[in-house]
Amino acid sequence: MSTNNTPTPHEKWQKSAQTWINHQGQSGDYARRVVLDPALEEILPNLEGKTVLDLGCGEGRYSRTLKSKGAIVTAIDPVAEFISHAKLLDPESTYIESFAESIPLPDNSFDLILSYLTIIDIDDMEATSKEIIRLLKPNGQLIIVTLSNMASCTDGWYKDENGKKLFRTVDRYMEHFSMNLAWSGLEITNYHRPLSYVLGLFLNHSFVLTKLIEPLPPKEDDYYSEEFRCPTFQIYALRKE
Ligand SMILES: C[S@@+](CC[C@H](N)C(=O)[O-])C[C@H]1O[C@@H](n2cnc3c(N)ncnc32)[C@H](O)[C@@H]1O
Repeated sequence: MSTNNTPTPHEKWQKSAQTWINHQGQSGDYARRVVLDPALEEILPNLEGKTVLDLGCGEGRYSRTLKSKGAIVTAIDPVAEFISHAKLLDPESTYIESFAESIPLPDNSFDLILSYLTIIDIDDMEATSKEIIRLLKPNGQLIIVTLSNMASCTDGWYKDENGKKLFRTVDRYMEHFSMNLAWSGLEITNYHRPLSYVLGLFLNHSFVLTKLIEPLPPKEDDYYSEEFRCPTFQIYALRKE
C-alpha cells in the first residue's frame, strides 16, 4: 500500500488479475480480436526461431500467439498471478515476474520486443525505454500496440440532447498525467503522454520508425463509423539501427 492507503497502480493490477483473466478469455476482448490482432498480424515479421519479448504479457494470451508463430518467447509482467496463469497454459516459454523498468535479462537478447497495450500502464517510460534499447539486438524491432495519445486524454464523446455524438473531446494533450479507470469490475491506472515524447524515447536513440498504423474495425462493424471519426488505437514499429 502507498503511505496514504491509496492502492498503487501495481496493487490495483494485482487485485484485478482474476477479473482480467476472465474478461480476456482465450481469444481476447473485442478490440484485441477484431481490431488489434488482425492489424498486428499484418506487420509482424516471420518469427520462426526468433527471440521475442512480450513486455507486460498479462495472462499471456498474445505470448501464446507469438509462440504459435514459431517464436522463442520470453514474457514479463509484474503481477504474480498473471505469470503463474501464463506458465500453466504455456510451460515451454519463459515467463518472468518483473517490471519493465528493470528486467533481469542480458543485453542484446531479442530480435523483437512487443508491447501490447502496456505502455499506458507503465509508470516510468524513461527507464522502460532504456531497458528496451539494452535488450534489443542491433537491427531488432520494437512493436508498440497502444491507445492513441488522443484517446488517452479524452473525456469521451460530447453529445447533444438526443444523445447524438457530436465530437470527442481532447485536452491537456502535451501534459503527462495519470488517470484512474474502472470498468467491468476492474480498477486500474493509465498514463497519458504525448506521441512525440513516446516516439522520441526511441527516435533520439538511433531507432527509425518503420510503420505507423491507426487500425479500424471492419467496415461492416457497428463501431466502424465512430472509429473512423476518431480512432482509439495506434500501432507503431521501430527498428534499432
Ligand atoms: C492492459 S494489460 C495488457 C496485457 C497484455 N499485454 C494484453 O494485451 O492482454 C496491461 C499489463 O501491463 C502490466 N504492467 C503494469 N505496469 C507494468 C510495468 N511497470 N511493467 C510491465 N508491465 C506492467 C499489467 O500487469 C498488465 O498485465
